[in-house]
Amino acid sequence: MTTTASRPSARPRAAIAAKTLRTDRWWWPPLYIGVILLIFIVYSTVRIFMARYYWVDDFGYLTPLYSPCVSDSCVPGSSHFGTPLPELPFFLPLGIIAFPVVAGFRVTCYYYRKAYYRSFWLSPPACAVAEPHKAYTGETRLPLIIQNAHRYFWYLACAVLLINIYDGLLAFGGKGDASFGVGLGTLIIWINIAMLAGYTLSCHVCRHVTGGRLKHFSKHPLRYRFWTFVSKLNAKHGTFAMISLFTVIATDAYIMAVSAGWINDLRIFN
Ligand code: FES
Repeated sequence: MTTTASRPSARPRAAIAAKTLRTDRWWWPPLYIGVILLIFIVYSTVRIFMARYYWVDDFGYLTPLYSPCVSDSCVPGSSHFGTPLPELPFFLPLGIIAFPVVAGFRVTCYYYRKAYYRSFWLSPPACAVAEPHKAYTGETRLPLIIQNAHRYFWYLACAVLLINIYDGLLAFGGKGDASFGVGLGTLIIWINIAMLAGYTLSCHVCRHVTGGRLKHFSKHPLRYRFWTFVSKLNAKHGTFAMISLFTVIATDAYIMAVSAGWINDLRIFN
């Protein structure tokens, strides 16, 4: 534990009257990232409570926002793991199992923390820019101490990713009696799975799980290989974090459009 004397926050700031001496457009990244996060929050909130247009029975497309669908409220065919839950009231999302996991995983993610601390809490808005808050308590007490649960969310997110992969395999449904087929929806679903896998595997927790607490990499060559691979992904974690937001929205929007009958799925095979 750090002592108060050793905390950077305990050191007085340089006596500069200006909010910052930076002359570049430091405000631009927190602004556009904040807008992207807001768009995703609004879109996903509307969609998870819509309770329709989440399943395409003809081709086995299930939107990730409703997976796994495990209640009696789910439309026939969409419950790949049965319906152990009864009908849900309107104020509970049908993706009630995975939603808290995915939301918790993203909210406690190191990348998103940086993003929303800067964009929404201005704490600080950018490097070398003074923040409006007078005190700094870090993540040492409620509610921010919950951020430390990120490692547990990672394990749960891995389980959700496996469910997404299973949904993706079932999205190879063919037209009519054909048991196999590929449509544009299948491709979109798998691109999203690839981005979700990139996001999950590039997590700092994954890096620690694969290579942490080792004194000698030479004695653990397999873990060293995994760690090297994950470390390369980890360098792109922020990219995966942002791209996967868009792929989730694109996948859900496409499945909604096909399910609602606004467009036909473009079939590539069967
Ligand atoms: S640090 Fe971003 S998901 Fe773990």
